[in-house]
Amino acid sequence: MQRTLAIIKPDGVGRKLIGEVIKRLEANDMHIVAMKMLCMSKDQAREFYAVHRGKPFYEGLTEFISSGPIVAMVLEGENVIERYRALMGATDYRKAAEGTIRREFATDIQKNIVHGSDSPKSAAFEIGYFFNRFEFIN
Ligand code: RTP
Ligand code: MG
Repeated sequence: MQRTLAIIKPDGVGRKLIGEVIKRLEANDMHIVAMKMLCMSKDQAREFYAVHRGKPFYEGLTEFISSGPIVAMVLEGENVIERYRALMGATDYRKAAEGTIRREFATDIQKNIVHGSDSPKSAAFEIGYFFNRFEFIN
């Protein structure tokens, strides 16, 4: 069993795609074991996305992710890090596979609806960033 952090970004929440994203998680055997809705401050966004510090999209990304409410979830399942990344699709929605969340709903390389941890190490950091041990259902 593995865990990953999933986020529905401000564009996904604003466009009322929370249900659409969660429907896909549930249909693909990814169990939600923690969930909350919140707004990130710019400083929190900078800290969360610290791996991207210095990249040309860092400022825009942290501005965007702190621009409105997000839904943060911890998903549990076999090989869930990789399986959820596959469900999201490529960062650039124009290159994302048919049927993926980003291919169907993203409008922009930045406004791409969802986030997912990309490795066990980033999953551990990102889950700990949003959730403490009392916030899991098991
Ligand atoms: P994420 O971390 O959100 O799950 O996305 P990802 O792994 O597919 O992509 P990553 O390289 O980690 O980039 C993080 C987020 O930054 C925005 N981005 N904009 N303008 C650009 O060229 C650019 N590149 C990345 C996207 O919102 C991307 O998801
Ligand atoms: Mg990433």
